[in-house]
Amino acid sequence: MSRLVYVLNGPNLNLLGKRQPHIYGSETLADVEAGCRTLAGELGLDIRFHQSNREYELIDWIHEARETAGAIVINPGAFTHTSIAILDALNAFEGIVIECHISNVHKRESFRHHSYVSLRADGVVAGFGTQGYALSLRRVAKLLDDAAKA
Ligand code: DQA
Repeated sequence: MSRLVYVLNGPNLNLLGKRQPHIYGSETLADVEAGCRTLAGELGLDIRFHQSNREYELIDWIHEARETAGAIVINPGAFTHTSIAILDALNAFEGIVIECHISNVHKRESFRHHSYVSLRADGVVAGFGTQGYALSLRRVAKLLDDAAKA
């Protein structure tokens, strides 16, 4: 399986570091991207890192990943709780899908407790802050390593 991983970020994550830092922390999305790139190098993964506030752009990147990538790590932001279209796109992707949330959504408002994306995700990370991205990439690398050995 391809060792290319799409790391996708949904709406408002461009404001990471400025937006509700008591919930999402002080690291910016650029910091998260830099951390992902360093770790991906150590794990032998290639990454494409994207953020959009537009649902269709996330869907287009998922379609792009279908052609080339072995895994998607996605923090869909609020689209997690609303988007059947993102679920449908992920269902059309055959590789590994990890759903990653910075905050512990289960400790928050009840509307955050349901995730459409979880119906497809192979694993879910929530409440580990921005460290969740690193944990997600480590899990992807493990699953790709296991698949290569099988
Ligand atoms: C989030 C949790 C979502 O409920 C919220 O809408 C976000 C960020 C997280 O990373 O904790 O935008 O996905």
